[in-house]
Amino acid sequence: MDAANPRVGKDAVRVIFLGPPGAGKGTQAARLAAHLKVPKIGTGEMLRTAIAKNTPLGQQVHPFMETGNLVPDHLLVALVRERIAEPDCDRGFVCDGFPRTLAQAQGLEEMSGDPRAWVVFDFEVPRPELMLRLSGRRWCPSCQATFHLKNDPPKAPGVCDACGTGLVQREDDHESVVALRLRQYDERTFPLIEYYRTRARMIPVDGYRPMDVVFRELLQAVGVPA
Ligand code: AP5
Repeated sequence: MDAANPRVGKDAVRVIFLGPPGAGKGTQAARLAAHLKVPKIGTGEMLRTAIAKNTPLGQQVHPFMETGNLVPDHLLVALVRERIAEPDCDRGFVCDGFPRTLAQAQGLEEMSGDPRAWVVFDFEVPRPELMLRLSGRRWCPSCQATFHLKNDPPKAPGVCDACGTGLVQREDDHESVVALRLRQYDERTFPLIEYYRTRARMIPVDGYRPMDVVFRELLQAVGVPA
């Protein structure tokens, strides 16, 4: 068992997805978590759920998210701390979009222990491709499944394959907001690549390839058969 969090076993899976907006983190994190049978902790999704339910947290974070700013660290660290204390995280978890700042990385270590055995996937995708992915992304406001008009279209146009809800564009996928999100990534998240290079098992991933090719590489990296 882990001294920092006795609920999380020593050999538990811990995977972090780093990368700019639109790099494919959420898409691949969902597939990997399902394959490894551990939960995906997607902080963007958790925050959007809080906004949809109009909870006090949702009301607090909405102004940050709709403008493309990062939500304050203390809120994120508290949210993740609570989530990984749940029993389904006993065998580990896959983090999508957390940590995103040095303060969050340190918070995660305090709650989850030494990162030396963690796998950190660092997704790299050219900027023009990121813009195409974000402008073409469509999202289910009910179950949060993600599609793309060209790269990953739903079976019926405009309708979620999983739950039948009408798909929409995320409010932070509009061009003016995307520009600020990319700046936030460059200034606040990019330094984590250097941070994890010496602290964890850091694996650069060329995310500018078909989804299935990327996924096979992730499975190989974590040593799990397809
Ligand atoms: P969040 O929801 O985490 O957004 P993000 O990190 O900006 O990432 P995205 O969801 O935009 O992209 P992705 O890399 O997951 O790509 P996806 O797989 O969807 O965060 C949103 C906001 O919440 C933040 O701006 C902030 O305000 C707040 N927040 C969240 N976490 C926070 C934190 N820790 N600290 C502070 N604030 C926080 O793919 C994109 C599109 O491309 C899809 O349409 C997909 O179908 C397509 N696609 C995926 N892979 C491929 C491929 N290989 N080839 C072609 N198309 C592909």
